[in-house]
Amino acid sequence: MIYRANSDVETEAIGKKLAEMLTNLGKKRAYIAMRGEMGVGKTVFTRGFVSHFGRANVKSPTYTIVNEYRVGGVNIYHFDLYRISDGDDLESIGYHEYVESDAYSIVEWSERVPEYIPEDAITVTISRVAENEALRDIEIVGGAI
Ligand SMILES: Nc1ncnc2c1ncn2[C@@H]1O[C@H](COP(=O)(O)OP(=O)(O)O)[C@@H](O)[C@H]1O
Ligand SMILES: [Mg+2]
Repeated sequence: MIYRANSDVETEAIGKKLAEMLTNLGKKRAYIAMRGEMGVGKTVFTRGFVSHFGRANVKSPTYTIVNEYRVGGVNIYHFDLYRISDGDDLESIGYHEYVESDAYSIVEWSERVPEYIPEDAITVTISRVAENEALRDIEIVGGAI
């Protein structure tokens, strides 16, 4: 499925919609690989996803690697693997425990360590559209979506 967003507010709304779809499917856990260049809106999308479940102050996990949210009865782990260089780095933050737990894992820059992306991952790819500063295409593929 491809969506078009004209603003950060619309990107958030599409993130929220993905959370709604998973909720409606009864899926309380999923691995969501967020793809797209720096500053394209991966964290904005994640903010919208989390907002479906409740209020949380979603900030980029650039320095913390992972931020954890427990909202509306679900666990959400938001990763940014930009500074990760290999599987050993991931193991040291307990990545497997996070990803295999009953939770949504939303992962920016998972392509840094592609062998750690599960086969049933949902991939969300955000790209800029032409010269319009605020326009994005958002493609959602995989999982049961
Ligand atoms: N359509 C859009 N969707 C998402 N973000 C947008 C859009 N238009 C402009 N922006 C801006 O782009 C930036 C995206 O930042 P962020 O989500 O942190 O990027 P990333 O996590 O991909 O590095 C924000 O400053 C946001 O306001
Ligand atoms: Mg980000």
